[in-house]
Amino acid sequence: MVSTQVKAVENTGRQYLPQQSGETETRSPNQELLPLSARANEKDRLEIGGCDVATLVEQFGSPLYILDEATLRAACRQYVDSLSRYYPGESQVLYASKAWSAVAICAIAAQEGLGIDVVSGGELYTALEAGVKPEKIYLHGNNKSREELEQAVACGCTIVVDNWLELQMVGEIAEKAAEAIRIMVRFTPGIECHTHEYIRTGHLDSKFGFDPEGMDDVFRWVKEHPRLSLIGLHAHIGSQIFERQPHRDLGGVMVQWLGKAASYGLQIEQLNVGGGLGIRYTEADDPPSIEEWVKGVSEAIADECKAQQVNLPKLLCEPGRSLIGPACITAYRIGSRKAIPGIRTYIAVDGGMSDNPRPITYQSSYRAVLANRMSASVAETVTIAGKHCESGDIVIHDAELPETNSGDILVVMATGAYNYSMASNYNRVPRPATVLVAEGAANIIIARETYEDLIRHDRLPERLVNRG
Ligand code: LLP
Repeated sequence: MVSTQVKAVENTGRQYLPQQSGETETRSPNQELLPLSARANEKDRLEIGGCDVATLVEQFGSPLYILDEATLRAACRQYVDSLSRYYPGESQVLYASKAWSAVAICAIAAQEGLGIDVVSGGELYTALEAGVKPEKIYLHGNNKSREELEQAVACGCTIVVDNWLELQMVGEIAEKAAEAIRIMVRFTPGIECHTHEYIRTGHLDSKFGFDPEGMDDVFRWVKEHPRLSLIGLHAHIGSQIFERQPHRDLGGVMVQWLGKAASYGLQIEQLNVGGGLGIRYTEADDPPSIEEWVKGVSEAIADECKAQQVNLPKLLCEPGRSLIGPACITAYRIGSRKAIPGIRTYIAVDGGMSDNPRPITYQSSYRAVLANRMSASVAETVTIAGKHCESGDIVIHDAELPETNSGDILVVMATGAYNYSMASNYNRVPRPATVLVAEGAANIIIARETYEDLIRHDRLPERLVNRG
């Protein structure tokens, strides 16, 4: 039934929700963690992008990812504007689509002038379907297949080469290609930062990129292969980083490598410093702003270029989380409650680790609000549990919430990055729909999966058919 509703919306294009009248501005205590357009309306219900969240859930079902277009666009603009303000050379922001690869999201990023960083044939396909120009697409990955490399060459995007096997494969493909293939080389800069060990990549013991010790050989090899055009160097030190210094250090280190490449007669025009800026998931998180981050990186690169007397490269960065993370919330319906006296009260929601695997994977913390009674006071500390058959399927440990009832709508904030993109069908739970909201309009941009979707790739060999 839910999927029928979704289809109807897809066919009719923009779907307008009733506008609220007599609105009063009530700021929620969690305003900082909510998308920019969030407010409590006169019904004391959460509204995002001018759409009442409870009404969206009635219309599109739950769980529901609700993506605020204004917040996403504002973050894109902050990166673009800050670069043009603080970096004296040319620049290009890429959206790291691993954070959430979807046709509509890539299309919005492209409208804002961003290019796209992709890490697989699937993400590349998605970006192309969104109409992103291949010259603004960069293919990453530590184990790209020959097919993926050929797909990239065929469409004309830039390949960020990660290792020797790939360099050789690209070299072979280049022999037969009509024109020289644009590549960048990724290396591990040897910069440590404090973040979860699974999402740290800049230290030397990382599966990504060339070890710096091997870079001289890479430069020599590339110099001997003129069918490969080395346009840039790439490094990424990790994700959800709050410290300011590591990215500044990275800028300096990368410029030094530019000088090294020049000593082999390679004029490198672009430096890509990766992504990694952290966001606020809880009130305890204190990341720098996008502007501060861009300023720090820009100054580090410009200063080092001056010191080394090298030309300013075109500066690329590829944020994911800080673009899309704060723009989305996940709305769930509250279901069962289990109170264990003196121990804990569990409140279960109708999703969990299948739509947000980050708490179980990285022990990530989130915060939630009750979307249908925004001004209700905190009454208890509860554990928000998912619906999956796994004790670790906890969305939030120790959430402070008002009194809740089954049927209430719980909104978990800042779920735009690495939630949908890492979602699964564990327990054969269909992935939720995503609705894009802006100025009172709501569009489904990813339809809710159906049970038919779940068994689409199942096959039943003839000898297993049960005929009663
Ligand atoms: N560039 C490269 C080469 C990357 O590997 C990444 C993230 C980014 C850019 C974007 O980083 P961001 O701006 O989003 O921090 N699943 C984990 C995060 C994995 C990050 C992977 N690489 C999570 O949920 O926290």
